[in-house]
Amino acid sequence: MINLESLEAEAKKIIPTGGFGYISGGSEDNWTLAMNGKAFQHRQIAPKALSDIEKPELDTKVFGIDLKTPVMMAPAAAQGLSHSKGETDTAKGIASVGGLMAQSTYSSTSIADTAAAAPDAPQFFQLYMSKDWDFNEHLLDEAKKANVKAIILTVDATVDGYRESDIINNFAFPLPMANLASYSDGDGKGKGIAEIYASAAQKIGPDDVRRIKEYSGLPVIVKGVQTPEDAIRAITAGAEGIYVSNHGGRQLNGGPASFDVLEDVAKAVNGRVPIIFDSGIRRGSDVFKALASGADLVAFARPVLYGLALGGAEGVQSVFEHIDHELEIIMQLAGTKTIADVKKTNLLNIKY
Ligand code: FNR
Ligand code: LAC
Repeated sequence: MINLESLEAEAKKIIPTGGFGYISGGSEDNWTLAMNGKAFQHRQIAPKALSDIEKPELDTKVFGIDLKTPVMMAPAAAQGLSHSKGETDTAKGIASVGGLMAQSTYSSTSIADTAAAAPDAPQFFQLYMSKDWDFNEHLLDEAKKANVKAIILTVDATVDGYRESDIINNFAFPLPMANLASYSDGDGKGKGIAEIYASAAQKIGPDDVRRIKEYSGLPVIVKGVQTPEDAIRAITAGAEGIYVSNHGGRQLNGGPASFDVLEDVAKAVNGRVPIIFDSGIRRGSDVFKALASGADLVAFARPVLYGLALGGAEGVQSVFEHIDHELEIIMQLAGTKTIADVKKTNLLNIKY
């Protein structure tokens, strides 16, 4: 594995066209998707001489959870598109590096099976709130039984972004979604994501954060925040985590790169709750910059899905080991021994 960017071309050779287009694609002309990666060039890391440090340490503790890496798996639906073992292999690969996985509502494997694949590893459950509250409560009950540590409420996908790859490929999920199948006869198989989203809730407000938190008794992390105002609204509603993300450029195309809004959101959050960041993370230096800009955890999905396709659990493990290796190098050269040191680092803002 030379770098994470190179995995996409390799995975394209083995993931069927429709599934690959669904994974790799963004919305409309993919402008926001492209900017997600470019935005990391907007800030730079100053090398530090005579720093007197060696052997950087990547371990961290967030939401009361001890982790060996600040990099986690973003929630991603239908991982059976990448590998027959789907989320169970993803869970194993992440557990092997001491990381944190977020399961999706639209997972190929059930909440229980994904948790059982890595029983000693921490997991979050990402909820797509349904219009049917009985279904929401069913999912939250299953999540609690599986001992997940928090609920991620995704709020930036109340309708599907205009996914041109899926339209061109006439993409429909070729496999069932276990959590949907566990509750109703509609298991998602043969449907496209727009149709799946249509059955979820479009109207989501602060009261829903409170209701999910009260019903589950778990911390609620609001995913899809891109403005300080939304972060404050979420915290006021009781959110115990803010997840800065633009869904990997798959939703509102024409929105800013997620990294470009992180610092202002972090200033507004002002340390009140932990921040997770995703969208565009491909390098250890990207992880460093996100941590230095206010993130406490950094997530990605596409590189992990490509690693899953190419090597199952071992492929997932390799993806995390690779980005951690790059991060270690950057931390050493920037004179930062710990993740806390990285978080205290001031990035440069040189215009090229
Ligand atoms: C996603 N994402 C996503 N987010 C979410 O809250 N629930 C979900 O079920 C999914 N499903 C999903 C499937 C696929 C194939 C992708 C690529 C993404 C969004 C995901 O959590 C994350 O925000 C972005 O993927 C981050 O961008 P990168 O790092 O994957 O480019
Ligand atoms: C997606 C949904 C499942 O991005 O979040 O495809």
